[in-house]
Amino acid sequence: MAPHWQILAAGSKVPHNPRPAAPGPDWTGGRLPRYGRVVARARYQSFDPLLSAAEAEDILRLCERFGSYGLYSEEGLNEGIGEGLPQRFDAAFNFIRTGGRFGRAQEDLRDLAARTNYFRETYAYGREIHAPGIEPFLNHHGFVETARAIFDRPAIEPAIVFANLLLPGQELAIHTDVPEFRGINRRQHPQWLCVVMHHSHLFDRWRMPIATAVSWYQDAHGGAFAFYPDGAQGAAVAQPVRHNTAILLDTDSVFHGVDRVHSATEDAPPFTPGMRVHSLGEGSGRWEVRAGDEVIGRYTWDEMRFSISWKAYCFADEAERNAWRGATDDLKLDVVLDTLEDDLRTRGRLAGARPARREFAEILVDQYVRFPPPAP
Ligand SMILES: [Fe+2]
Repeated sequence: MAPHWQILAAGSKVPHNPRPAAPGPDWTGGRLPRYGRVVARARYQSFDPLLSAAEAEDILRLCERFGSYGLYSEEGLNEGIGEGLPQRFDAAFNFIRTGGRFGRAQEDLRDLAARTNYFRETYAYGREIHAPGIEPFLNHHGFVETARAIFDRPAIEPAIVFANLLLPGQELAIHTDVPEFRGINRRQHPQWLCVVMHHSHLFDRWRMPIATAVSWYQDAHGGAFAFYPDGAQGAAVAQPVRHNTAILLDTDSVFHGVDRVHSATEDAPPFTPGMRVHSLGEGSGRWEVRAGDEVIGRYTWDEMRFSISWKAYCFADEAERNAWRGATDDLKLDVVLDTLEDDLRTRGRLAGARPARREFAEILVDQYVRFPPPAP
């Protein structure tokens, strides 16, 4: 039976070092939808403040000390099904078609790439620590307890911590994150297919729920975190980016994006694959984007949007964790494609032979991934 409590509401605050999240007088009542659907009313939790003042400063210094951040470019085109399409063509095509959350004038794919290929590096991956000092964040008690409560799953296993840097003029198209299933994940299969699988709800039994927390360390100009807690047809909530705050939610289910970071010009930023953004030293607050030795742009902290994301697997029990670790209950790609094809036929969306790979991919995204419309 679904628990009779709920974490909700922008503005509900979790204090530093919160007590374990649990049903109680602090929680608003309400029956929860069954977990795992793209829910009508998603649960999320804001943190303000997230850390102590000193800890938040330490995170900024850690980001600078890390040195430089590469452009997180397209992870390559698909092979096999969806051949020739970008990995996240679902979000990219929607962005181009609609002009994003505000229905802006259309841009071409190259400008879109410059706007949406932000800078990223990984601070921790499982037990591998790439940015010493990040350990307390990886095991943040408030994140773990809140994930446990929101997902109603007791075994929370932090999996990755990574930093994103967006510079003036950059933004992130509305999307849901790439989910993971036992046997099907982004390392071996197209990202858009993982997304389709989740939105179809045909593979919920194999899905591995992932909690995501996004945290911020400046008062950024623009770059709000926009998300749709009431579903794609509901209103967007734009959470401004404020120093030492965070939000935790199911970003695999809830559509979200990043509004454009304020820029002096309307031009797409001049970023192309291979560039890196470099700190000019711990405590300097100054950064440069470089292509090799050539300086492309100079920035200060308050022009940038820096976030750290935390993702954790949320297991129902040890049996589920063991099935994942031991790969004892894995989905196979041909089963996934056959199941989707059967469902399309049942819905009257497909007749005759299965279309060519690329066309099949486009039909799947069109059928199952229903994006929020642009704001009026
Ligand atoms: Fe995302």
